[in-house]
Amino acid sequence: MKKYYLTAAAAIFLAGCGAESEDAANGNDAETNNTVEENTEADNENEVNEPEEDLNEETSGDEDSGPAVIAHRGASGHAPEQTMPAIEKAIDMDADWIELDIQMTADGVLVAFHDDDIDRTTDGEGEIGAHTLDELKELDAGSWFNEEYPEYADESFEGAEILTLEEIFETFGESENYYLETKSTYINEDMEEPMVELIEEYGFDEAGNVIIQSFHQDSLEKVHELNDSIPLVQLLWWEVDEETGDLEEWLGITPAPEDMTEEDFAEIGEYAAGIGPHLEYYDGTEVIDEVFVQRAREEGFDVHVYTINEEEEMHRLLDWGVTGIFTDFPDRMQNVLDERGE
Ligand code: G3P
Ligand code: CA
Repeated sequence: MKKYYLTAAAAIFLAGCGAESEDAANGNDAETNNTVEENTEADNENEVNEPEEDLNEETSGDEDSGPAVIAHRGASGHAPEQTMPAIEKAIDMDADWIELDIQMTADGVLVAFHDDDIDRTTDGEGEIGAHTLDELKELDAGSWFNEEYPEYADESFEGAEILTLEEIFETFGESENYYLETKSTYINEDMEEPMVELIEEYGFDEAGNVIIQSFHQDSLEKVHELNDSIPLVQLLWWEVDEETGDLEEWLGITPAPEDMTEEDFAEIGEYAAGIGPHLEYYDGTEVIDEVFVQRAREEGFDVHVYTINEEEEMHRLLDWGVTGIFTDFPDRMQNVLDERGE
């Protein structure tokens, strides 16, 4: 599988999270998520920072640096999210990155799992963090998919296991690329250190085949402090006020896209090489546009939009200049890239 490095938005200088899944089964988006060094302040408050130079260097100039196909929770449109079949299908579909949400078990093991509760995607109940790994391994994390999506059902999905991050690294190794989210850090406290240690143990920080993303700025800052060679992506989720139409970022990371100043971008650029915005709010309002994408690119950021499953939307976003798309259907994005000759 080809290696892909963040295309370093510095496009201009160097070269260069959502739309509702049609299959909303993915329990998608920030609300269900309940979603970089000592330089958290610019040395000079008037100074404007672009994403750190070392990140730009690391993430630019790769031979395959076309738009990134990011398999959201694996190829989760085709197989139960975050399980072995979903990862294998993502690889079969030549996704550039396997996106995985990471949480912690009661006994402190990092596992690939999206929701805070296990009810939707397993035959168990309760919070994932209230269960030990042994307990979670007893669960069936595959059959729900067959019931929810009979058109994609496969008997082999039955009994699919919740996977540890280490199992995934061990199974797929350095030949794949992992786009890991520190999820729900208000319950998964201090997950950053074991995650970074595991990445370092496998040498994936040096190999350049891991990105870490989060809605939680403090989590990304922790990672950056632990290992500043791991590229980071700040996920963003803007809520739309029903009455006024005003946009407010869920965790107060930024103002509305159109109001973001150079300084707002610079603050993110102190730790992150990219941003991960969504396209649509639940009511269908589009929260970003081409102007915003171009602005973010000019400010030096990669722009990876989540979660896009319609080919028409993929074309539109690529026309705007996004550098990657999270999708449950990597095969659809590959079709789009083929059509565009990219
Ligand atoms: O990580 C990008 C996107 O996955 C964020 O939404 O809820 O699917 O983790 P969610
Ligand atoms: Ca995610």
